[in-house]
Amino acid sequence: MKTLLITRPIADAVLDQARAKFDVTVNEGGTLTEAECVAALASYDCILPTLGDAFTAASFAGDIRCKMLGNFGVGYNHIDDAAAAAAGVIVSNTPDVLTDATADIALTLLLATARRAGEGERMVRSGAWGGFDVKGLLGTHVTGKTLGVIGMGRIGQAIAARCHYGFGMDVVFHNRSPKVTEVPARQLESLQAVMETADFVVVATPGGAGTTKLIDAAALAEMKPTGIFINISRGEVVDETALIDVLEKGAITGAGLDVYENEPHVPERLIALENCVLLPHLGSATQETRQAMGQMALDNIIAWSEGKTPPQQVN
Ligand code: GLV
Repeated sequence: MKTLLITRPIADAVLDQARAKFDVTVNEGGTLTEAECVAALASYDCILPTLGDAFTAASFAGDIRCKMLGNFGVGYNHIDDAAAAAAGVIVSNTPDVLTDATADIALTLLLATARRAGEGERMVRSGAWGGFDVKGLLGTHVTGKTLGVIGMGRIGQAIAARCHYGFGMDVVFHNRSPKVTEVPARQLESLQAVMETADFVVVATPGGAGTTKLIDAAALAEMKPTGIFINISRGEVVDETALIDVLEKGAITGAGLDVYENEPHVPERLIALENCVLLPHLGSATQETRQAMGQMALDNIIAWSEGKTPPQQVN
């Protein structure tokens, strides 16, 4: 039997299937450091890793027994997939199954930030609410506004559909390559054009070298003072300090974030801001979605173990 390391406990139903086919070890110790990735690559035939595990280029430099990383997650910016390929290690991911859940979290953040739900929740729980207030906690109207999507992939399009069909929003977007979308939406000529046109900017790009700090101080400076900024992709896509600067200055109205530059660290300056809704990377966090992600990650590993091409191979 091939040995399989699963780097976090996953749904029991998927774990049972894995145990029937592999000699399974489940890591209960949390995120793998680079040194732990080196040790894992040297010790196991295949690995089911997830976000945060540090499969850096350097981790593939030593003696490697592992031939397959079936990543749990669509984003795999924690794995140097080129270094993996050079070392003969296949990498796969879990697209599609988390599109709806992640788009739903974008809408959760968009609505919660626009309607100041975090502030309201804190007010009720602290006992500070004095009753219906005609001028209290007035937020930003959502219906009929303009949505700007940065990164019009599967998740970006699912967000656009929710906003267009659900809230009558006009959709503009920025995408590296030209994109024809099913949902009515206009691709603008530049990132700047989207930043300045949209009432709500939602970042839905992949992470990785190509998008690091794509949203920098200059891009944020294009936003309307009434604008609301949402990020459900990867923290590294946004210059977090520049974002905090514009929020502190009141140069934009608010932000809703599911991801951070150095997770799980969230800067104190961000936590201090009332006009931010902050979630702990919940994009794909539904029972159904996490089970489907585990199943897809395992199915890729099984395909590899049977000598087939893993259906979601990325390198
Ligand atoms: C979650 O962020 C994922 O990439 O699957």
